[in-house]
Amino acid sequence: MCGLRVQHNTGNARGGPARQSRPDRPRGIRTVHTDSGVTPAIPAQSSEPLTSGRPVALTTTDTTHTQMQLPEPQVAVLNAASATEETSIEQLAEPAGIEPETATRAVFELRDQGLLEVTEREVVEYEPTHEGRTYVETGLPETRLYRAAVDAGADQGAVSMGQVIGAADGLDGDAVDIALANFGRKGYGTIESGELSADPDADPDADPEAEALAALVAGAGVDDVAAGVLDRLVSRSLAARRDRTERAVTLSDAGVTALMEGVEAAETVDRLTPELLTSGEWDDVEFAEYNVEADAPAVQGGTTHVLRQTAERVKDVLVGMGFQEMDGPHADADFWINDCLFMPQDHPARTHWDRFALDTPPIDDLPDDLVDRVESAHREGVGADGDGYHSPWSEDFARAIALRGHTTSLSMRYLSGEQVGELDPPQRFFSVEKVYRNDTLDATHLLEFFQIEGWVMAEDLSVRDLMGTFVEFYEQFGITDIQFKPHYNPYTEPSFELFGRHPTTGELIEIGNSGMFRDEVLSPLGVESDVMAWGLALERLAMLTTGAEDIRDLHGTLADLEFLRSAEVTY
Ligand code: PHE
Repeated sequence: MCGLRVQHNTGNARGGPARQSRPDRPRGIRTVHTDSGVTPAIPAQSSEPLTSGRPVALTTTDTTHTQMQLPEPQVAVLNAASATEETSIEQLAEPAGIEPETATRAVFELRDQGLLEVTEREVVEYEPTHEGRTYVETGLPETRLYRAAVDAGADQGAVSMGQVIGAADGLDGDAVDIALANFGRKGYGTIESGELSADPDADPDADPEAEALAALVAGAGVDDVAAGVLDRLVSRSLAARRDRTERAVTLSDAGVTALMEGVEAAETVDRLTPELLTSGEWDDVEFAEYNVEADAPAVQGGTTHVLRQTAERVKDVLVGMGFQEMDGPHADADFWINDCLFMPQDHPARTHWDRFALDTPPIDDLPDDLVDRVESAHREGVGADGDGYHSPWSEDFARAIALRGHTTSLSMRYLSGEQVGELDPPQRFFSVEKVYRNDTLDATHLLEFFQIEGWVMAEDLSVRDLMGTFVEFYEQFGITDIQFKPHYNPYTEPSFELFGRHPTTGELIEIGNSGMFRDEVLSPLGVESDVMAWGLALERLAMLTTGAEDIRDLHGTLADLEFLRSAEVTY
């Protein structure tokens, strides 16, 4: 040791590697540390101090020098930095014996104090993908196609494409399309009416894409590779582009001066520990100041998904409005999903086009008398003027299991008394749960989504009650301009669709469906009062509150991570 080692006598057990000064450090600088007699404050398992920014104090323990006191990680970083040579933060962290994140924080804090200079450089890196690496070994598909074509004599005249592809080494599946597209693009030859001719002058050995890819795999620099070639590798998914900021650090003049005058690790404590409390030392120690304004690396912690946050909020709002939560099976009998809802068994929504049927045994525990009453409603209708569907009704069909296409199956279970016993009016119930539909995926449709189901059972309900409930509910989310459109459901009369205006596109989007349950639904269930009910789409509500324009930004494989990290659920 050349006498430039930072001495740790704070007594904490962190024990990082001994630090050696960089050779270019102004000679003769010694980092001193005065022991103020404070016993270990930071337990061994605690990580680096959170943050402690500005110089804590200028002490004059020595009459000739004014020594600067800095938090320990800053002292370590300052000692590891050089006045003449740029050092990366990773290079600083190692000899300083601290985590890169701690070093980064210390660097920013030292920069704010003018002791370090930090230069930032945007670095673009290209990393070969698995597919890219494979092609370096096997050759690009178009190269393999070209070689096979030449072997088959396609450089002399057109040869059947099938023959060439068959002869090309391992060229099958997607690789065939890739080969053909790039073969044409690179001018390796032409493909016409199923025949392929190869350009005898083409030179796949000097292919810039293959060369760049090989250089990437070999870990060589790609500085002199044309950006267009790299972009092409990225668009072919053969390489992935990563942009990052590289920071280089040098000591400023003030930093050099401070080191010459001596910098010591401040005897400050950055957190209150059980040990400090039990020993009573908390009363004597000096606590570090926190610099809440210092730049710090962005930390991506886990966060509750936007949809989950919205769902929680919806539950809070509904509970606040006096509703109780329903719960029940995702896979259920068609009886609960459709038959109880007076959905004719030949309704289009009940075909395999719309529903996810499950290959499981049918349900056996259905209440027999309810099954009879539902069948009778379907066949003969309800009441004196009632009329049924005059179409077949099969109990087997009703007992078959499918993934629920709406959570109205839960409302049926609850209203029938099956789930929680007979219910007397007034009652309010809701659920915020997943439903499954065999839809076509697009900007506003997912194959599974969350429905905000709800119903109110009371005497003498009217459409005004239904509308007023929605106005009150959506107001909690800042949505004050919902619109209603008359609609048809086999189970409600009257029925209304709800629309809301998208905050950025201004488009009206459907956000829900609702109505007053018909007698054909309520009478078999044994409900004598009125019931108003609805199914609202949670994702659509989230689109209105977050401004997401495509439902697939919210969940699924295409979800925009940046959006999910930063979107706020406001209310
Ligand atoms: N089940 C309906 C749907 O999925 C919503 C709804 C529930 C409508 C209850 C009216 C009454 O669209």
